[in-house]
Amino acid sequence: MRCASDCGAKMIISPNSDDLQRIVVLNPKGGCGKSTLATNLASYYALRGPLPVLLDCDPQGFSMRWLERRSKQRPPIHGIAAFRKSMQVTRTWQLRVPQETRHIIVDSPAALDGMQIHDLVYGASNVIIPVLPSPIDIRYAARFIAELLLVTQLDRSETKVAIVANRTRKNTKSLDQLMRFLNSLRIPVIAVLRDSQNYVEAVGRGVGVYELPHHRAKHDIEQLSQIVSWLERRRMPQIEPAIRPVAAQTEESLARHLH
Ligand SMILES: Nc1ncnc2c1ncn2[C@@H]1O[C@H](COP(=O)(O)OP(=O)(O)O)[C@@H](O)[C@H]1O
Ligand SMILES: [Mg+2]
Repeated sequence: MRCASDCGAKMIISPNSDDLQRIVVLNPKGGCGKSTLATNLASYYALRGPLPVLLDCDPQGFSMRWLERRSKQRPPIHGIAAFRKSMQVTRTWQLRVPQETRHIIVDSPAALDGMQIHDLVYGASNVIIPVLPSPIDIRYAARFIAELLLVTQLDRSETKVAIVANRTRKNTKSLDQLMRFLNSLRIPVIAVLRDSQNYVEAVGRGVGVYELPHHRAKHDIEQLSQIVSWLERRRMPQIEPAIRPVAAQTEESLARHLH
């Protein structure tokens, strides 16, 4: 794991400042893709810079193990094993983060109760909920999203919560069912990610799909970029029209220059 001493970064105690975008990937259903999304977002922000923080709140430590596999030659990510810290620390976001950090990505655990959901979402800039196309996952997501809106008092019209349909297969009945359900929620579905071996390969190598050969991962990169674009727009809503083309350009040039 990269830590403060490894990367020589100057550390600050994270204040609740507008400069930090705190992105929480959340769904108490195991296996829906939280760690996959969190690590891929961390990889994207690492490539783009400045140094992002990946906060692993899951005692299973999937994100921290991914980070341990990451080569030192790759753009660094500052990992924090938050599950080893007290809930008070996570709740107040009083974390030691590198001074230059602008993005904190939170990988959350399964099986959370209402209070834990509240604590994770408190102070978050964005909440991203991955959902799989299976009847069990759809039922689970329906209950969880109702609870999320209740315990956090979030309004659907607030633009900080979004859903990502994950591990989808084109033209399948399960995808139809998932999309019908998601559209009924009135929460934006910002990306539909296909079921792809690229995610499995990337995870084994401590990289994200942005770091795989472009010709192979192009399709997955395009889909993930929908999430990144949404996060960019949510970060600076007041100047959204002006920055949109720039954000799109940044992604294109990033993809071009990386491969
Ligand atoms: N879009 C995808 N395509 C293929 N495999 C995926 C995809 N998303 C996740 N996976 C795989 O599904 C499994 C569960 O994903 P994970 O991110 O660990 O879920 P969670 O953190 O919600 O428990 C992992 O083996 C992961 O590699
Ligand atoms: Mg996980």
